[in-house]
Amino acid sequence: MSGRREFLKYSSAAALTACTPIGFSAPARKLPTRVIPGSSERLPIVGLGNARVFASGDMQGAALVLDTFIEHGGAYVDLSGTSRYSVGKILADRGAQASTFLGNYLTGQTLDEMRPEIWKLQSVQGEGPLDLSMKRDVADLGARADEFHALKKEGLLRHVGIGRPHKRFYPAIMKLMRAGVVDFIQVNYSMMEPDAADEILPLAVDSNIAVVINRPFMNGDYFGLVSGHELPEWAAEFDCDSWAQFSLKYILSNPAVNCVLTETSNPKHVIDNLGAGFGVMPDEKTRSRMRGHLLKLV
Ligand SMILES: NC(=O)c1ccc[n+]([C@@H]2O[C@H](COP(=O)([O-])OP(=O)(O)OC[C@H]3O[C@@H](n4cnc5c(N)ncnc54)[C@H](OP(=O)(O)O)[C@@H]3O)[C@@H](O)[C@H]2O)c1
Repeated sequence: MSGRREFLKYSSAAALTACTPIGFSAPARKLPTRVIPGSSERLPIVGLGNARVFASGDMQGAALVLDTFIEHGGAYVDLSGTSRYSVGKILADRGAQASTFLGNYLTGQTLDEMRPEIWKLQSVQGEGPLDLSMKRDVADLGARADEFHALKKEGLLRHVGIGRPHKRFYPAIMKLMRAGVVDFIQVNYSMMEPDAADEILPLAVDSNIAVVINRPFMNGDYFGLVSGHELPEWAAEFDCDSWAQFSLKYILSNPAVNCVLTETSNPKHVIDNLGAGFGVMPDEKTRSRMRGHLLKLV
């Protein structure tokens, strides 16, 4: 949609304030953005994953998470299943559809199934092309690349992405990247799961493909590893206030990364996670120190 596209082109706290309806507070600070390769669009560097609360039926809880996210400068939400509709409805109620960038997982198996699926999504998320259509099935996307290309040509979607959270999928994803099928990849990357830095992230940079990171907390297991340990004092040197930010700042300080998705149903965690986008980012030497420190704890 043109409104959505314009917002993202000039994404900033000021633009968000202008686009959001009465009821939203202006973001206190401008969340840094990074450009989507090959475009002039910018995405805030911390996004929100497909939070459990979005699919729980608890619309009040879902709205609280989403409102907190947007009020603190967030704009990119990754959505699958029924969350696509609950989040769409919350955004529509607030007139905030144009100011968000949504990654939707489509389930249709043919063009004839995908078109009505997109129309249905548009009826809640807002008119205009979907920002990003995500797929999990690498082989299926490879086989149906022409269909996604057709949907783009028809103006039903703008970007196509592939997302899998394990290194065993990297070779197949890299094939799709080399074949020019995807505009976005979404892969796991963190201090405990660093393999993406070896090949797939450099390939994304060379191929002008946007990089979104999932599993920043290994779906919560990371907190089990650091639980009971004090954050090192030197974390303050790069404006890091929590173990969550310790992981997110490591991820975000890899220059190949456009955005990290964080899944949470807790508004306090939303604020904590968005906080990682601000301030100093660790340099190479500090990144090694961070990983070394974490590996000593586990
Ligand atoms: N395409 C794919 O196949 C694929 C696969 C995996 C993930 N993803 C996407 O990536 C997103 C994130 O990855 P993930 O699901 O692996 O989740 P994650 O973000 O690595 O971890 C989520 C867990 O961390 C907790 N948490 C979040 N922020 C916290 C904080 N500040 N302090 C303490 N605990 C915190 C959450 O609990 P609370 O709710 O209590 O905060 C939740 O248990 C997903 O939501 C999804 O959108 C996509």
